[in-house]
Amino acid sequence: MDSAKLLEWYRQNKRDLPWRQTKDPYKIWLSEIILQQTQVKQGLPYYQKFVTHYPNVQDLAAASEQEILNLWQGLGYYSRARNLHYTAKDIVTNYQGKFPKTYKELLKLKGVGEYTAAAIASFCCNEPVAVLDGNVYRVLSRLFGIDTPINTTEGKKIFKQLAQNQLDKRQPGLYNQAIMEFGALHCKPAQPKCTTCPLAPDCVAFQTGQTGHLPVKLSKVKIKKRYLHYFLVEWQEHIILEKRDSKGIWQNLFQLPLIETGANNRITNNDLKKLYEAYQIIPLNKPVILDKKLHKLTHQHLHINFWQLKSTRKPISIVQKSAVPDYPLPIVIAKFLDNNIL
Ligand code: ADE
Ligand code: SF4
Repeated sequence: MDSAKLLEWYRQNKRDLPWRQTKDPYKIWLSEIILQQTQVKQGLPYYQKFVTHYPNVQDLAAASEQEILNLWQGLGYYSRARNLHYTAKDIVTNYQGKFPKTYKELLKLKGVGEYTAAAIASFCCNEPVAVLDGNVYRVLSRLFGIDTPINTTEGKKIFKQLAQNQLDKRQPGLYNQAIMEFGALHCKPAQPKCTTCPLAPDCVAFQTGQTGHLPVKLSKVKIKKRYLHYFLVEWQEHIILEKRDSKGIWQNLFQLPLIETGANNRITNNDLKKLYEAYQIIPLNKPVILDKKLHKLTHQHLHINFWQLKSTRKPISIVQKSAVPDYPLPIVIAKFLDNNIL
C-alpha cells in the first residue's frame, strides 16, 4: 500500500476529536475503552464526562465503583467499566501512578488487549506496532483481496502479519490513526466510496468487483432467548430497587424485582407468591403490564415485560422514586423508569 496516499487522505479528511489532541496515555486509554463500546458520535459525551470527572488516573482510582458505573450507564457491557476502575487502581498501586506506555507493559493491564495496547503505544510514543480493529481488517481484506475469514485463528494470523508489514514505521501513530479513520469514513462496511478513493488503483477488491464480499466473517454462536419479568412495586413515594449480584449480565447494577420464566413466558401464581414473600409485599392489586421490550445483547435476546403493582405494606429494599437517577441501572430499566415514575 502507498502509505503517503493514505496519510494525505487523513490530513484532508480526519475528524477533529479530543483524544487526538493529547499524548497522555491515560486519556487515550479512556477513549479507546469507550470506543470499543460505541461509535465515535455516541462515545464523545462519555469521554468528556470521564475526563471532566477524572482528569487523571489517580482521580479514577479514587472514585467509587457505583459512581463509575453511573457515568458508564448506557454504554453497556459493564465489565469494561469495572476493568477500567480495577486498572486505574492497579496503576496507582503497582506503577507509582505512572501509566505504562510500551506495548509489552500495556498488555499486562486488565481489559487491555492487543488492539488497545497497540493504539496507546503508537499514538503516545510512536512505538511501531500495528493496530488491528474492524476497520483495519476491512481495509486490508479489500486492498489485498483476502477472503480468509477474519474471525478464525488463521485469519487473525494472516491479517496481523499483513498489518505489521504495511505499517509506516516512520510515523506509526499517524498511520494507525489514518487507516482506522479511512475504514470508518471512506472504506465503509456498506457503500465504500471507491469512485473517489485514492487507493482504488491498487485495490484488489475494487479492481475485481469484490468489495461487497469482503471482509469474510464466519457466522457466530447461536443467540440465547431469555424471558424476564420486572416488577415496578410502589409503596407511597418509594419503589423496590435491588442490587444484582456479581455474576452474569449487568453485574452489580441495580434492577427491579425479577421473575425469569421459560420460553412460554408465563408467570405462575407460585412465582408471584415467592416474589411477594421475598420482598414482604402485600399487593393491593394484581400486577398490570405497563411495557414490553426486546433488548439485544451480544449473545442473548432479552424478552422483557414490565409490570406494576402497589403494596399496602412497606416492602424491603425500597428507595425514594426521586433518588432513582442516583443508581446505576441497565439502560432498558433506566428508560422504563424514566417514562413511568420520574
Ligand atoms: N475508534 C477506535 N479508536 C478510535 C480513535 N482513536 N479515533 C477514532 N475512532 C476510533
Ligand atoms: Fe476501500 Fe473501495 Fe478504496 Fe478499495 S477502492 S480501499 S474497497 S474504498
